[in-house]
Amino acid sequence: MNPNKALWEEGDFTEIAAFMRQSGEALIQAIGITPPLRVLDLGCGDGTTAIPLARLGAEVVGIDIARNLVEAGNRRAAEAGLTRLRFQEGDACNLAGVADRSFDLVVSIFGAMFAPKPFDVAKEMVRVTKPGGRIVMGNWIPNDPTFVSQVLKISSAFTPPPPEGFVSPMTWGVESNIMERFCHAGVPRENISMVQDTYYFASPEKTPTQFVDLFEKFYGPTMNAVEAAQKNGQAEELHKQLLELANAQNKSKNAGTFIPATFRRITVSV
Ligand SMILES: C[S@@+](CC[C@H](N)C(=O)[O-])C[C@H]1O[C@@H](n2cnc3c(N)ncnc32)[C@H](O)[C@@H]1O
Repeated sequence: MNPNKALWEEGDFTEIAAFMRQSGEALIQAIGITPPLRVLDLGCGDGTTAIPLARLGAEVVGIDIARNLVEAGNRRAAEAGLTRLRFQEGDACNLAGVADRSFDLVVSIFGAMFAPKPFDVAKEMVRVTKPGGRIVMGNWIPNDPTFVSQVLKISSAFTPPPPEGFVSPMTWGVESNIMERFCHAGVPRENISMVQDTYYFASPEKTPTQFVDLFEKFYGPTMNAVEAAQKNGQAEELHKQLLELANAQNKSKNAGTFIPATFRRITVSV
């Protein structure tokens, strides 16, 4: 089994995605789309951005490597009555069966960054985008002081060194890597732009402690860290560091969670 697929299928990311709905909708409003539009949401999870895209009138295909998230997405689409939205299994490294130049917009929010072959990912995203279309990617930034980047930093400190040749997903947050990958896929430098943006993890009733528990149980990179930490007696220390981080960054005025996380939003004109 592909370890990338196994990792994301093992955790139920829908539990964390429930904190991301407001920001998913806000991001799609900010990107601004004008239907009729065919959109691919790559590494779509259970549809945090695919569902608002479909609500705006786009025809949307969500592709994700995790079968359980594809099933959850299709259930959410059916419940919402969104007949022009479908989710299917696929790998961002190789979008076999997806036609060249078939989408006006390709969106990937904290999704394709987790695929193991970044140059292939950039090439595939460019291949399936129509000339005149756009790619919008949201990627966490290495060493950024806000929540998710710090969770990933803490998690990697508790995880054994990766196999040789492993490329960190965080390199997708580095300007020079982003430029290199899209230029290699044939995009001129001047067609690539990036800004910093903020996602908010929000729940009126769930506490930061409950939120950290969900990351430990369901967020692929943190699950790996927990597994390793349990083996060498470091699980309590890992939990303590994550909890301190979540409590320090929580901006909720009541018992709930409202935690900002900065990311790099990249727009590529194809
Ligand atoms: C952090 S979640 C984000 C999900 C969604 N974009 C959202 O904002 O809620 C990362 C997603 O990327 C998916 N993913 C990881 N590697 C992938 C790959 N190689 N191809 C497609 N999807 C992948 C995971 O299954 C997971 O759904």
